[in-house]
Amino acid sequence: MEATARAHTNIALIKYWGKRDEKLFLPMNSSLSITLDKFYTTTKVVFDPALKADRFFLNGKPAGAAETAKISRFMDKIRDFAGAKWYAVIESENEVPTAAGLASSASGMAALAAAAVKALGLQVDGRTLSKLARQGSGSACRSIYGGFVEWQKGEKADGSDSYAVPLLGRDDWELSILSCLLESKQKKISSREGMKRTVETSPFYAGWLETVEKDLAAAKSAIARRDFALLGRILEANALKMHATTLGADPPFLYWQSATLDVMREVELLRERGIEAYFTIDAGPNVKVLCGRKDEEAVRETLAAIPGVQRVFICHPGPGVSYGPY
Ligand code: PMV
Repeated sequence: MEATARAHTNIALIKYWGKRDEKLFLPMNSSLSITLDKFYTTTKVVFDPALKADRFFLNGKPAGAAETAKISRFMDKIRDFAGAKWYAVIESENEVPTAAGLASSASGMAALAAAAVKALGLQVDGRTLSKLARQGSGSACRSIYGGFVEWQKGEKADGSDSYAVPLLGRDDWELSILSCLLESKQKKISSREGMKRTVETSPFYAGWLETVEKDLAAAKSAIARRDFALLGRILEANALKMHATTLGADPPFLYWQSATLDVMREVELLRERGIEAYFTIDAGPNVKVLCGRKDEEAVRETLAAIPGVQRVFICHPGPGVSYGPY
């Protein structure tokens, strides 16, 4: 009746951007990510037949009504899957710097799916767990695995072929991912709202869809060959293309702030100095910079010196889901 699981966040190199089915969290395109070692969520789920509703605690405090409702809707899907009726006490600890604006929904939903399924005594494979996690937050389906991961969009309407698969283990390619936390004050447009508006209104979205599968194939072949320069060029262009679609939306929006551009420019300057570094940006202003391990300290120093950059975290490829006690 109880279990604890841990899942790590991931950063997309080829972005998931747009849903073809909002309810089942089915994506318009396949995507590719690296799971990170530094940021993770640990979640304990205790089912209790005496409870009349789920109770959700985040970092030791009872979560608000909206947050609890979102978690409970996801728990309903897990209960449906398992044929179970009980409510649960859910305690999540986010090992993501507080208020950092570094996405935790992927690690959160993946850890919750894993803990809940285990607490119900079910044995499921990674694929099944990935499909469940997907229905909490799309990107969560990739956090089931460590290292480099592909989320295959699938073709079927019921989502049975839309799940993540591991491409390369965390130790198979020594890269560093520097997560730059900016001083952000802007109100956030959620990824859910951002992709919905873009799919429905942006004339640039068709251009995104036309080229994203080609980007994915090129990125996979660069990974197979450990060709960092090629992978870097592809992931940077893919991120820029995704963000470009938001400028065509109605009303238009942009996740970047001025410091986002300053980091992007600095990465370009690093390359001019002969240091291979490439950036990517998810649905927010923060920038993640990829570089070789040997360059991580030099890149960190350069990025930390940019005004508007609050902190730089050095991350490496991390592990997939694991089970406690911790
Ligand atoms: O799964 P969500 O709702 O966190 O959406 C993720 C969207 C992006 O971070 C922009 C891209 C991605 O593939 O993670």
